[in-house]
Amino acid sequence: MKSTVASATALLLALSGSPGAAKPVVDTAYPYTGPDVPVGDWVNPTVKGYGKGFPRLIEPPAVKPASANPSNNINVISLSYLPGGINIHFQTPFGLGEAPSVLWGTRPDRLYRRATGTSHTYDRTPPCSAAAVTQCSQFFHEVQLRHLRPGTRYYYQIQAANGTTESGVLSFDTARAAGDPTPYSMAVLADMGYTNAGGTYKQVLRTVDDDDVAFVWHGGDLSYADDWFSGILPCADDWPVCYNGTSTHLPGAGPVPDEYKTPLPAGEIPNQGGPLGGDMSVLYESNWDLWQQWMNKITKRVPYMVMPGNHEASCAEFDGPGNVLTAYLNHNKANATAPRTNLTYYSCPESQRNFTAFQHRFHMPGAETGGVGNFWYSFDYGLVHFIALDGETDYANSPQKPFARDLKPGETHPTPGETSVTDSGPFGTVKGSYDDNKAYQQYKWLAADLAKVDRRKTPWIIAMSHRPMYSSEVSSYQPRIRAAFEDLLLQHGVDVYLAGHIHWYERLWPMGRNGTIDRKAIVDDHTYMTNPGKSMTHLINGMAGNIESHSTLSEDEILDITAVVDQENYGFNKLTVHNATALTWTFVRGDGGIGDELTLIKKKPGRRGGGDSKHRYGGPGVLFQ
Ligand SMILES: [Fe+2]
Repeated sequence: MKSTVASATALLLALSGSPGAAKPVVDTAYPYTGPDVPVGDWVNPTVKGYGKGFPRLIEPPAVKPASANPSNNINVISLSYLPGGINIHFQTPFGLGEAPSVLWGTRPDRLYRRATGTSHTYDRTPPCSAAAVTQCSQFFHEVQLRHLRPGTRYYYQIQAANGTTESGVLSFDTARAAGDPTPYSMAVLADMGYTNAGGTYKQVLRTVDDDDVAFVWHGGDLSYADDWFSGILPCADDWPVCYNGTSTHLPGAGPVPDEYKTPLPAGEIPNQGGPLGGDMSVLYESNWDLWQQWMNKITKRVPYMVMPGNHEASCAEFDGPGNVLTAYLNHNKANATAPRTNLTYYSCPESQRNFTAFQHRFHMPGAETGGVGNFWYSFDYGLVHFIALDGETDYANSPQKPFARDLKPGETHPTPGETSVTDSGPFGTVKGSYDDNKAYQQYKWLAADLAKVDRRKTPWIIAMSHRPMYSSEVSSYQPRIRAAFEDLLLQHGVDVYLAGHIHWYERLWPMGRNGTIDRKAIVDDHTYMTNPGKSMTHLINGMAGNIESHSTLSEDEILDITAVVDQENYGFNKLTVHNATALTWTFVRGDGGIGDELTLIKKKPGRRGGGDSKHRYGGPGVLFQ
């Protein structure tokens, strides 16, 4: 067991920098000119008053404070895998005054070992000094336990410091070693936030409580913090996210809860707020706090692995009617209009640019696996090698652009008007042209990571990024992410490519390059056979919930590459790894029903994950082991 950061100097260093190897820091060449604290509610823009005005959603902190008026508290606990260990991430409103510390052991009554870690913070808006102690996170702590036994339950207790209350005795299970053939399940979801995600939450929590999933993998678009401005936008007839007496039509099925029928208080404007009305989640940072605290019941029990989505990039993605956000964020004029939309990189407060909250509020094993921070990394669990890719930045023509792409000839720095509000990264190096995928560190890392996979141990390789390569909802980013990664993934016999972003469940037919359907790999409507090097199975699961509701297409727009699309139900996917030749992908709907099921089978794996000539597939239900 190694411990880190014993000295005050090291702690100060840790406090001053970003975690992991992610870079660059936020560019501040031009000033931010908006309100000190952008609040998406013109009527009652309270910051501290989570309980004022119309009821705001309140989630309990991870640790219940021992006193009635705590000066500091552990509000969020979130686990993640490290190679051979675990990262215990926790969050407090204020610093600890010492290195974060955890007691741990293999028996709950014998926590004889102590590990210390590092802390980091960012200058969030508003600061936690302006918010409720049990509802705010500004200091982020990482304690790493290494050299643990695989597939083993450990117990831990986060120690009190500087006003916090120690946690209860909690537990986690380490990842099963690569090559361990024991069957297991894990949960996959994407595009969640709060709104519409209640059913998904309930079902994921149930599987965690039942010890039915080993961990959760969230493919980006986590909290939808950047939709705080939905509290600005008035209800619209064509947007079914409007409650509190103005509309009883809820996105998705199910009865309308009584609290949705409560009329708004006098003076409140019905708007596109959260489940309990307009005032919820009207602050970017409190949206993050609330979502993370909501997820505590899951994230402190099982590792919660994340990756970046577009909603993690900055405080806003696009303007509202009349360009209200341009008026508000650029000119500090609430409830006003602007002649044209002009959201730039500098429209957001500094702490709400360049994936800053995302970089601090999680710790993925980027640095530990040769990748970068929370952006790209890999890990093994039993018979699967999992690869997380950054679909937002760090490849040619990525959806979020680095400044260098905004430069005009002769410029060394773009003017604000040449930037975009979500400009971000690159988080790795780019040695060569921004237009050349092979110049990117992410590409080189992926090639090296794939080359190292031992298919005798992990016959399955499953990759995920936020962005799908193919869908019936065709979009310009799709050929770009294909150009970046598809060849490498195919060359190395990757079996499955997962994505989110599109807010529905979509199962595609197995496909090779250019969206060519690999008919030889289709056994029947619910069974595919892997065809390493020739095709991959593409799955989209962007239907966890979220305030933007479902994506939709009419039936005649659905392409022949799509095997199944569900535009009605929310939920998540349970992936069950049976053995080296079979896994099952199950769409678990928010109401507990099963939306779809796919079994993937492969011939007895060879060196590259493919079959060898001595073993042939024997038809549905006959699997080689
Ligand atoms: Fe997205």
